[in-house]
Amino acid sequence: MRGSHLLKPVPISDKMDLKAYLEEKRTRINGALDRLLPKDHDYPPDLHRAMRYSLFAGGKRLRPVLTLAACEAAGGDAEAALAPACAMELIHTYSLIHDDLPAMDDDDLRRGVATSHKVFGEALAILAGDALLTLAFGVVVDGAPSLLSEGRRLQIVSEMVRAAGSWGMVGGQAVDILSERVPEIDLPTLEYIHTHKTGAMIRGAVRIGALAADATEATMTALTLYGDRVGLAFQIADDVLDVIGTEKQLGKQVGHDHKRGKKTYPGLYGVAESRDRALELADDAVAAIGKLGAPAEPLRAIAHYIVERVN
Ligand code: IPE
Ligand code: IPE
Ligand code: MG
Ligand code: MG
Ligand code: MG
Repeated sequence: MRGSHLLKPVPISDKMDLKAYLEEKRTRINGALDRLLPKDHDYPPDLHRAMRYSLFAGGKRLRPVLTLAACEAAGGDAEAALAPACAMELIHTYSLIHDDLPAMDDDDLRRGVATSHKVFGEALAILAGDALLTLAFGVVVDGAPSLLSEGRRLQIVSEMVRAAGSWGMVGGQAVDILSERVPEIDLPTLEYIHTHKTGAMIRGAVRIGALAADATEATMTALTLYGDRVGLAFQIADDVLDVIGTEKQLGKQVGHDHKRGKKTYPGLYGVAESRDRALELADDAVAAIGKLGAPAEPLRAIAHYIVERVN
């Protein structure tokens, strides 16, 4: 069985040092995020502290890394993609704050620390999320014209709307929550949840990187397919980690999906089959960008990292 090899540690890629690559990109992203965020002491300080608290608590920065990596894979300069990459992380962090609220998944731990509503109260957690989401659009619109033309910035904003809104992440979150109350759902509905609540932002992050690079249509098609596949693989891996991962490694509580009646891949197919599916999707993602050559090597390594990660 394919999944069984996932039980042993496997090298993520023998062609590149992914750890160093991620480290370098994360440092660049975190520096830019720090410059873009209001200061803690800006009025109203409680709100700004709440925004920074969740954003800088940790996090893998996968979406912004994908934006930078996709930009480079499409032959662009990652600098042009940096502000849009940060925008995707702002939206993602808002989605986590709201996902953890008592009205949604009701979680107490996120990124290794107490969730926003536990520290700041529900009202400020909701507002910190709202403010992060709003800031994301400002960050792209106010970006340097020398890096991205006005037309490109508009296309990126439109991509953000698709990825984050009711056709994307928020749509997926809605069906995820509504499905808690039904005894079972079919595979197309489960796929809808996963490709929307998580896949849409990952696909969008990749496409935004390609847009920042002025990618050709063929490159955009290849990268979109890559984003689709890794997006679904990422959520399957997240479901699996909720079953077999630890709170210490993940920085969030485990075993909650089953308790809350969440519809998940391991719930429907078991852990081994879910892992096989995630691995297949990662292989498909790698195949989709076969023609992009050496500049796409980080994306290939990231596809495997997504399904082999332990956090
Ligand atoms: C968690 O995302 C929420 C999902 C979409 C599954 P991540 O696992 O990327 O969370 P951080 O950003 O690293 O905290
Ligand atoms: C969350 O999915 C997707 C988001 C849009 C935040 P989950 O609810 O499975 O994410 P975790 O497990 O809480 O990180
Ligand atoms: Mg959720
Ligand atoms: Mg959750
Ligand atoms: Mg989860």
